This record gives sequence, structure tokens and C-alpha cells, in this order.
Amino acid sequence: MHLAALHTPSQIQLNKDGNLKHFITIEGLSKQTLTKILDTAQSFFNDQNQLITNNLLEGRTVMNLFFENSTRTRTTFEAAAKRLSANVLNIDIARSSTSKGETLRDTLWNLEAMAADIFVVRHSSSGAAHFIAKDVCPNIAIINAGDGRHAHPTQAMLDMLTIRRETKKDFADMSIAIIGDIKHSRVARSDVAALQTLGCKDIRVIAPNTLLPFGFEEYGADVRLFNKMEDGIRDCDVIITLRIQNERIDSPALSSPAEFYKMYGLNKERLALAKPDCIVMHPGPMNRGVEIDSSIADGPQSVILNQVTNGIAVRMAVLALAMQGQLQEQGLIEAIAV
Ligand code: NCD
Repeated sequence: MHLAALHTPSQIQLNKDGNLKHFITIEGLSKQTLTKILDTAQSFFNDQNQLITNNLLEGRTVMNLFFENSTRTRTTFEAAAKRLSANVLNIDIARSSTSKGETLRDTLWNLEAMAADIFVVRHSSSGAAHFIAKDVCPNIAIINAGDGRHAHPTQAMLDMLTIRRETKKDFADMSIAIIGDIKHSRVARSDVAALQTLGCKDIRVIAPNTLLPFGFEEYGADVRLFNKMEDGIRDCDVIITLRIQNERIDSPALSSPAEFYKMYGLNKERLALAKPDCIVMHPGPMNRGVEIDSSIADGPQSVILNQVTNGIAVRMAVLALAMQGQLQEQGLIEAIAV
């Protein structure tokens, strides 16, 4: 699909009062909306830095619809929904009637008839969550848990929350590098959009030209390309490493994983070029010895597991806010207040 066709008008995500009712993509959302998600997520930690539970979604039903594999995202959405006291149903798509020829539309309408309030959707087709929100189930809050190579907005927000919590610096004052397979990564695309919206002025994309997306030069003046890893990570505050998305690569972009590690693998020597307090992130699943060395992944600058915990808080925030936005749209707002 051409990039232009993927552009999601922000209006579909917002209700008539400008609040979130679906969460499909970062693009088109304001700094105020992103900050509200971050602040709400932060409010789900107590003074001891532990995640809290509450009853914001009591009596509501969240359905996890994962048409593509996932460990962290599916589980943390489930954990988040349960912490908000929602009922959670994990739909086993591989065993559902879509395998008997039922259309996606019919499957979704049947699930809607089972009193779903929120669908969390992961799909290998870019645009799937947008299509469902716009054309199939507009009255259900649709949360995009990753669509093809297009967007992964909750991953971007958990990355932003991690940066905010771990660095305590302003986005405008940081240099942030994203390394690796930018071309096939929905995480990279959503991270860049979130960083730009939150005011980061120095976003560095480190990759070979073969792993850059079509139209990369239009990302904006705040996004710079570095082919050479050593140049790109110098004096960085944050490094985000990415997995090579082999499942989305149809023609060879690299000679081998060993070659990639030699050119772009994050090791001690390279990390030493960044600021001494630079944090290292990875959305997972991680391929040790390809994009990152184990000594870094398990080292003192790694915040990779903090990302996972922050993912629960961010997903709690997005579930609660989108539910609130849907109820507000339908004139039922007194039912819930985040
Ligand atoms: C990412 C994804 O699925 O897009 N992972 C995740 O959600 N934690 C990145 C990846 O698969 O490499």
C-alpha cells in the first residue's frame, strides 16, 4: 500500500470534544493529547513506583484480537485491562471462523454483539485498525496494537513514558537515536512521530540506505540520517535499537545478521560514544548478537524491562481514555471519569 493511502485523518480518533475515542496512530494527535496519555499513565504508579489497580473499566469488556504473533503487547494489554477491572477476552483468531471463510467484518460484528466495548487489534495489514474504526465498528473503541509496517502507537507512548521517567529531561533538550530496520518498523515510524510532536529537535536515524523507508527525506528537518553508527550515536541521550523485521522483508536488504552486527550492533565501544547517562531501549523481541550485544541488553544503561512495565501503565491510560471518549461521544460520560 502506498504511504499516502495510509494517512489516518486525526478526526477519526477524536470525539466531538477533541478527546481520544480510538487510538490508531500518533500522526495528527497534538502534544496536549500525547501529554495527557503520559500523565494519565504516570498516575497509575503509586509513590513506591508500583502499578495500581482501580475500577475505571468495571463492567466493560475488552477483546484482544491478535491476527499476528505477540508476547509483550498482548499480555500487557490483558494485564492493563485487568488492572482497570475490565472483563478481558482473548480471541483465538487462528481457531476462529475466519478460517472457515467468514469475513473479517462478520467476525467483528459477532464480537460486537457479544457486548464488546474495546477491541485491541493487531494485524499484518497496514490500515486494518483504521478500517475497523471507520467502516466496521465505529462505536467500539479501537486500539491499534500494531498494523503491518504502519503504526504501533502504544509502543511509541510507552517508549516516550520510559524516556520521560528514566531521563527526567525535556524532549526538546535531548538527542535520540533510532537504529536499524526503519523501513519495516511500525515502532520507528510511531516513535519518530511521537518525538516530533513532543518537541524533540534532534532525532537521528541510523541505518543503511537499504533499510530506510520510501519518502524518508520528507520526515522533517529534525530527523537526520546517519549511515555510520559511530557518527550517529555520538553524545546521544537515548538509543532505541530495533529488530530486523524479517517477516516483512521480501528482497534481501542485508548480506547477513553477522554483517549487520558488525556495522550496526550496539556494543560497549559504540555505547561509550554516547552520553555517559545514555539509556538503551528495545521494543522486543530482541535478537542478541544481531542488533544488540548481551552485555548492553543486560547492562546498567538498559531500560528494556522498564519499557515492559511502563507498557502496562500506558495501555491502562489508553484503554481508560478511549473508553471515556467513546462514552462521551455517545452521551454516557457520567459512567466513567479518568
Ligand atoms: C514490535 C512489533 O511487534 O512491532 N514489538 C512489540 O510490539 N513489542 C517490534 C518487533 O516485532 O520487532
